[in-house]
Amino acid sequence: MEKINIGIVGTGWPGQMHAGAAKAISGANLYACADLDEERRAAFVREYEPARDYADYEKLLQDKNVDAVIICLPNFLHFPASLAAIEAGKHVLCEKPPTLTAAEMKVLRQEASKRSLLYYFSRQFRFTPGMRLVRSLVHEGRLGKIYHAKATFVRSRGIPVGIGAWFTEKKRSGGGALIDIGIHALDAVWYLMGTPRPTAVSAQVFRNFEHLVKVPVFDVEDAAFGFIRFDNGAVVQLEASWAGNLTDDVPPRQYFGTELVNSVLYGTKATIRLNPLALFEDQKGKLVTVPLQAEPGEASGFELQLRNFLDAMRGQADPVNSADQAVSLMEMIDGIYASSELGREVPIFPEQKKDGA
Ligand SMILES: NC(=O)c1ccc[n+]([C@@H]2O[C@H](COP(=O)([O-])OP(=O)(O)OC[C@H]3O[C@@H](n4cnc5c(N)ncnc54)[C@H](O)[C@@H]3O)[C@@H](O)[C@H]2O)c1
Repeated sequence: MEKINIGIVGTGWPGQMHAGAAKAISGANLYACADLDEERRAAFVREYEPARDYADYEKLLQDKNVDAVIICLPNFLHFPASLAAIEAGKHVLCEKPPTLTAAEMKVLRQEASKRSLLYYFSRQFRFTPGMRLVRSLVHEGRLGKIYHAKATFVRSRGIPVGIGAWFTEKKRSGGGALIDIGIHALDAVWYLMGTPRPTAVSAQVFRNFEHLVKVPVFDVEDAAFGFIRFDNGAVVQLEASWAGNLTDDVPPRQYFGTELVNSVLYGTKATIRLNPLALFEDQKGKLVTVPLQAEPGEASGFELQLRNFLDAMRGQADPVNSADQAVSLMEMIDGIYASSELGREVPIFPEQKKDGA
């Protein structure tokens, strides 16, 4: 099997995780990296030994030997870098959020599809042992019909800054706690529910804790709360915060004060909770708690995700994190911001089919 040459742009924590995954996969060759930050780039080159390294990502995209690009740049560069990569004939795996808006994501989907290239968004949590176990129980029908899910990603003191303080500046981040961590929580329950089509969103976002960090611009939300309706009748309740005076049932987490990441899916036969993992099942009319144990995977979520990306590139598997799903995910994010701005529920209309069908 011919190795696929991978270029990683942005060599912070996610770039390093993807690099570790690429090094562990026999069908991949970590060929190049790019980062404007010389020190970071040099440390990355020492650790992962790519054959080529560049400062600006645009230089890496001109390298004919690169087959696929993994984009780990600040959010506002996801769209231009993904588009430029696709135009240069590269397959794309892009960190979350896929883009800043659904409209941008639709452009990427179309441009990739026109050239028979793969656009894939990074959501390594979909591949973790707990998520895989829950997904298989949902598939087996163990939960019955899922009518409600609760998606939680809250921190009490966890406002990120990033190189150049871009996380808190709307024009470079696209938003705050919602687009940064809420997107993980929302995607987790949505994926486990089988990615139903979102139809309406009601939400409110808040900025109350900007005094906790020293940054030049802080014009994004530090908390977001949403209620999403789907075409199968199910609903999702989402809570995300970077900062808040949270209650003492949220466990401590280094660097973030306290943190709780959880997905709970309520079904007609059983309810399932990811953290700690357990099933709450109706057994002959009695509600029984069934503890679950997820087998530790043979590989990390990043590695399993990259394997799926490469298999999908080769036409040997369906992409788990598809461009269509990235569009829907961004429609929900857009809807949350729009609803909060307008102070009312906003609809998400089905996409019009091009042929009028
Ligand atoms: N999947 C996850 O769990 C996860 C975790 C953390 C971050 N992320 C995502 O990864 C992305 C990066 O986050 P981060 O925390 O590493 O941010 P960061 O600011 O620490 O790193 C971004 C890097 O991009 C580099 N860069 C900026 N412009 C560039 C250019 N034109 N060419 C080359 N390099 C350039 C910077 O020098 C920097 O090293 C974000 O979109 C974030 O949402 C995902």
